[in-house]
Amino acid sequence: MTTVYFNGNYLPQDEVRVSPEDRGFVFGDGVYEVIRSYQGQLFALDAHLARMRSGVCELAINGADVDALGDVSAELIKRNHLTAGDATVYLQITRGTAPRAHFFPDPPVPPTVYAQAGRFTPKGDPAKGIATITVPDIRWARCDIKTVQLLPNCLANQRARASGAQEALFVRDGVVLEGSHSSLFFVFGEEVRTAPKNNYILPSITRDIVLDLCRTAGIPAREAPVFTHELPRATESFLAGTTVEVMPIVRIDGWGLGDGKPGPVTRRLQELFRARTPKARG
Ligand code: PDD
Repeated sequence: MTTVYFNGNYLPQDEVRVSPEDRGFVFGDGVYEVIRSYQGQLFALDAHLARMRSGVCELAINGADVDALGDVSAELIKRNHLTAGDATVYLQITRGTAPRAHFFPDPPVPPTVYAQAGRFTPKGDPAKGIATITVPDIRWARCDIKTVQLLPNCLANQRARASGAQEALFVRDGVVLEGSHSSLFFVFGEEVRTAPKNNYILPSITRDIVLDLCRTAGIPAREAPVFTHELPRATESFLAGTTVEVMPIVRIDGWGLGDGKPGPVTRRLQELFRARTPKARG
């Protein structure tokens, strides 16, 4: 039986009742986070909570105690016996429940706060890498907010799956931005490059960690757009994210990168990333 957190209480998951008038259900009016736990230790917790705080602020959702969700996450890990091995914590805050109207409830209603922890099995083999496809980015212009409105991401990922690939890479105005649920890096010779942080990508926490690893290891890295016409010159590519860690990309739209195997820069960053996680220390 999974124990979850719902509006201040810990309870069995099947006892949670969300109103059909919840604005998360009706409008996708909310934000979420996915946090990784290694051996019971929440990884980059503060950064995840800071991003959630900023999302709540951007959407002007009132009354959500984001800070409290750190302790809630740790408690869910304990209550669900996830202190050994890999797990993820999912956090979601919506604007709350009110009769359907596009304007915000006035006076404001309490937000709906939900959190769940579960065992996590990584997908894809980090030693072999994965295949990807490119897709037109049909998302809105505030991809920097981690909202629960993920339909374009779901459609894109489904399209990847249907074509035998594992991830879809969003392309907007000729720039390859990020994956449906991961950030994206390329290697051109010695230099690592990733799209700059702006309103068209999520400020990924793993992306920041990878850039920091590059800095400390002396690997040249640049935050600058990567254009589709440059892809044939890329020697390596990889995804970065809470659920994918550092995952080599070995195919894009059917063509192989480098020699079709994870390249040396990617493998080095995989090692450095693992060394940063509690799993490696534990
Ligand atoms: N997604 N870009 C997008 C669009 C994402 O949805 C995610 C994460 C990332 C990587 O961000 P981070 O390094 O902070 O996990 C980039 C989560 C894991 C998800 O939707 O399940």
